[in-house]
Amino acid sequence: MRGGARLAGEVSVTGAKNSALKLMAAALLAPGHCTLTAVPEIADVAIMAELLRRLRCAATVADGTVELDVPDRIESEADYDLVRRLRASICVLGPLLARCGEARVALPGGDNIGSRGLDMHIGGLERLGAVITSEHGFLVATAGRLTGTTIWLEFPSVGATENLLTAAVLAKGTTVIDNAAREPEIGDLVAMLNSMGAQVNGAGSSTLVIDGVDALSPVAHQTVPDRVVAGTWAIGAAITRGDVTVRNAVPGHLEIALDKLVSAGATVETTVDGFRVCMQQRPRSVDVVTLPYPGFPTDLQPAIIALAAVSDGAAMVTENIFEGRFMFIDELVRLGADVRTDGHHAVVRGRPRLSGAPVRATDIRAGAALVLAGLVADGVTDVAEVHHIDRGYAGFVPQLQALGADVERIEVDVCP
Ligand code: UD1
Repeated sequence: MRGGARLAGEVSVTGAKNSALKLMAAALLAPGHCTLTAVPEIADVAIMAELLRRLRCAATVADGTVELDVPDRIESEADYDLVRRLRASICVLGPLLARCGEARVALPGGDNIGSRGLDMHIGGLERLGAVITSEHGFLVATAGRLTGTTIWLEFPSVGATENLLTAAVLAKGTTVIDNAAREPEIGDLVAMLNSMGAQVNGAGSSTLVIDGVDALSPVAHQTVPDRVVAGTWAIGAAITRGDVTVRNAVPGHLEIALDKLVSAGATVETTVDGFRVCMQQRPRSVDVVTLPYPGFPTDLQPAIIALAAVSDGAAMVTENIFEGRFMFIDELVRLGADVRTDGHHAVVRGRPRLSGAPVRATDIRAGAALVLAGLVADGVTDVAEVHHIDRGYAGFVPQLQALGADVERIEVDVCP
């Protein structure tokens, strides 16, 4: 991309990746035909569809709709090849255990049983009566019918809340999940489960109460809009001093992020189906702390650091959710950003402009943030390994072009 253009115009957001993947897994809970709409056309959805096929479901993905046929008898093993490509595939654990009474899910690379990363999933399922071991790189879970109980999560983990929820809906008796995650994607999953016939109360609060039922029915369900993609466009408008109307977005799901943009000097208006962000002048630096919802989302932390890199003043950005989330900063520094990190704090001293350079996307959100940074860098910025961005943003480059960015996607031969 060649920096300098301001983003202006309208962009429409589709359903949330982080919801769609879990809704697809939850479809396993009921035999029959399930339809999910507003599903983003991204690589992760294709991988999850393949995983469901290997569990004997029929799955098609076309035009933002996923059609699933879930048979009466499903396989209970998710192999390493797919789990390695999609860490979120761990979300089939709860539904498989509830449906089959057993599950074998490959451990995502680097994780060991009980290690940081899956301990709350495992501990919670054990509280529901599952016996879980680690064998030959697989997490092996067995149970008769799970039995409701009270589970207190040490941290409001999104993935653990989802796995426990999808396991508990078919358990015998009542399950209470305390300190549950409150993300809108959890609300979306609860909405789908309840329309399948589950009895879940408390979505959006820290306590979920689940009265187990004997069986669920398949449904048609529309995925909640992607707040991270919407937030990326909002920050894209702010960083380029642009004017972007984001359609099919829920401003209430981004309250703190949008408030931060207002503090940075942007005007934010709610529109009939989303919001509009307009920035007339150089943004002011604002401090940001990532926290579980409704706090500032960790998934927007790389983009807000890119914004701080060109803002007036210094900002302290604190990352509280993922330890490794500052890894992309080395790439941002290649573009001339002045960022120092100390543990989970980053101090960003804003510069008037960045300077185009070749950089490499290290994950989905870092990739999007580097693109935003490239839009305000002098000269040309090449962002390599954009397959990471494909995992979370459908049609990112054409959408950027439609908003006026000077950007193109090119295939390059990589030396063996
Ligand atoms: C989900 C999202 C991710 C988002 C994150 C937080 C998907 C596919 N991904 O990830 O984009 O950034 O929520 O909003 O939906 N942890 C443990 N033990 C556990 C579970 C989690 O220590 O058993 C730790 C994790 O290592 C991490 C933190 O808790 O440091 C947050 O994890 P969690 O909320 O579970 O995030 P994910 O569901 O993995």
